[in-house]
Amino acid sequence: METEIEHILIGEDEIKAKVAELADRISRDYQGKELLLVGILKGAFMFLADLCRHISIPVKFDFVVVSSYGSSTRSCGVVRIQKDLDADISDRHVLIVEDVIDSGLTLNYISKNFKARNPASLEICSLLAKPEANHSVDIKYTGFSIPSDFVVGYGLDFDENYRNRRNIAVLKKSPVKTT
Ligand code: IMP
Ligand code: MG
Repeated sequence: METEIEHILIGEDEIKAKVAELADRISRDYQGKELLLVGILKGAFMFLADLCRHISIPVKFDFVVVSSYGSSTRSCGVVRIQKDLDADISDRHVLIVEDVIDSGLTLNYISKNFKARNPASLEICSLLAKPEANHSVDIKYTGFSIPSDFVVGYGLDFDENYRNRRNIAVLKKSPVKTT
């Protein structure tokens, strides 16, 4: 399995420092407000868990399960909400927490869908952003801008593998399946 790894892109310590830095910014920006963190599962689970422990203001949580990829490293172009929010987000300060934005298709869809529910504010925090993301969706908090390679680890998977890696690594191009 590990033979599918090309090289480590972002090390554990670098991730830790960035997560703390993002949490500081968020704590400052939402001072005096009640924040609802919405994790996009499954990929954002590890980032969200670490991020929230550095946030110093009161936060509540909700989760959505979204699929757009299947087992391929290419988006199939269809976004599907498999599990919707439990909470009513009208008049609430919502911060979407995502692992990576590639084409922006997923976040575009989610943003539009959430905006229609009239939140007090709606912003996006993504640990990783690929080049394509710049012109498709407005990301307020970005951890790292990365090349468009397929990456795994720290919550991100290839075919449900590698999510528990402590660092983020580039996958070798050879195992890419096309659907
Ligand atoms: P987008 O809709 O093209 O922006 O893709 C976003 C979703 O695709 C993310 O939430 C991930 O689940 C998945 N994804 C995109 N790039 C990668 C990657 O490099 N590794 C693992 N998952 C990825
Ligand atoms: Mg995801």
